[in-house]
Amino acid sequence: MPKPFADARSIHHVIEPALWAPSVYNSQPWSFRITADDRIELRANVSDSAGARRGRWDLLLHSPAPGPWAREYAIGCGAALMNLRLAIRMLGHDPVIALVPAPDSDPGLLASVEIVAGRTRGPKELEKELYAAIRQRHTDRRPFSDVPVHPGVLVEIERAAAREDGWLRVLHGPYARRWLKASAGADAAIAVAGRGAAPASGDGWGLAGGDGRDTAADAMVIAAADDAAASGRLSYDALLHQFRDELTQWTGHTEGGCGVPLTASGPRPARVNSPVRDFWLGAADSGGGNGAADSGTGSGADSWSARARRHAERERFERHPQLMMLFTDRDDPADWLRAGQALQRALLTATSLGVSASFLTQPLELADLAFRYDPQYGRLHHGPLHHGPLPHRDKCQQDSRNAVDRRGYVRRRILGSTPWLEVPQMVIRVGYPKVSAGQPDIRTPRQEPEVIDVRCVPSQRVIRPPEPQPPEAGQPARTH
Ligand SMILES: Cc1cc2nc3c(=O)[nH]c(=O)nc-3n(C[C@H](O)[C@H](O)[C@H](O)COP(=O)(O)O)c2cc1C
Repeated sequence: MPKPFADARSIHHVIEPALWAPSVYNSQPWSFRITADDRIELRANVSDSAGARRGRWDLLLHSPAPGPWAREYAIGCGAALMNLRLAIRMLGHDPVIALVPAPDSDPGLLASVEIVAGRTRGPKELEKELYAAIRQRHTDRRPFSDVPVHPGVLVEIERAAAREDGWLRVLHGPYARRWLKASAGADAAIAVAGRGAAPASGDGWGLAGGDGRDTAADAMVIAAADDAAASGRLSYDALLHQFRDELTQWTGHTEGGCGVPLTASGPRPARVNSPVRDFWLGAADSGGGNGAADSGTGSGADSWSARARRHAERERFERHPQLMMLFTDRDDPADWLRAGQALQRALLTATSLGVSASFLTQPLELADLAFRYDPQYGRLHHGPLHHGPLPHRDKCQQDSRNAVDRRGYVRRRILGSTPWLEVPQMVIRVGYPKVSAGQPDIRTPRQEPEVIDVRCVPSQRVIRPPEPQPPEAGQPARTH
């Protein structure tokens, strides 16, 4: 039996596919530990856009009100785990997964993967197809064809998610329209954050403080987003401002192999309620340098908006964007990892069937932000997705289990009166890509992963070995 972790080359052979998973803002929040000849650990590696370790995972995770990052980092790690599992299957071995095996003593350990190598069982055709799709899949923010994805294909994609305990459902007519409107409203709220102005979309997505006033000064704020002020009292607008700063740091440039490059951001839609995220923060609307991103955080937003304005030609997107929402039964870190695996299996299935996908998660991110601001209620203003006041919840629910329940509850509530009871985790837009020549490359780069071999004493970082050079022309290849 070939040992999966015999040397640096075989280690990287197993890990490489995991790196091509999607991750929020292409942050690649994972690292790997080889702990035995048949065991590898997937760990959270939370870093900022400059690549500096923050080590905030515990804080994010154990806070009664974690913000979007812990969840979204974990979803990306779940997607990487799916790829890792497929890589192990391609070697003919079976992976056995324990999700978050030590939540109290080692919460940054997201998954422990045992490789059962007693017998070799070749990969099935389906596994080969999914594996082949890993490098073909990219988040596609370009316009899709107006031809709707075939219902049978949508069912295949839903089934793929269901195999990983993720419930993916098509958002039909009014729900899709509401989500597009909510996404545009969230984009507008983020774009004006910190400027004390009302979101451009007016009655779009309304959250506490989004009207520019600190409407709940007495609200609880737990686990603020930076290290120095792990807990404190910040206005919702201040939290939103931090959120926007982080967004601008990740988008438009790819220092150290992280972040979303300008080329991957796609064109600007020609109509309101865009089916793709506004990574330009409204910059192209502003004209003449007075736009939202120009108002300045000093975090690279200025040059980004200037480049965005040049880049952002408006294009017509598909007439009826097809959206699917991914749910899990509950809302704790293991569920986020399940969501990530379900998402990735669904995306790989879509890719293998010729369907492209992008994401529209900003309303869910702002729901988490609102929850952080006010963990009791999430304090959502009444917007198009939310009808009526949130019912009273017992004020004694302060332990983390109940916080998890409340967070899931708040996320469910943002959907308003839908028939679904599970917790929404992601929204994807699917469609057939338009084939046209001269399109920019939409690929994103990847950074060198942190891979530590703890079988060695002391532990060693596993450096990727150089690729073997092809033999020079005229020289015979060596056979031994
Ligand atoms: C949890 C999560 C949330 C994401 N949210 C968005 C989003 O709201 N809008 C978007 O355009 N892309 C979103 N993405 C896609 C990432 O930006 C993308 O995966 C990353 O840039 C790497 O690019 P790739 O998917 O092409 O490999 C999200 C990805 C994950 C895993």
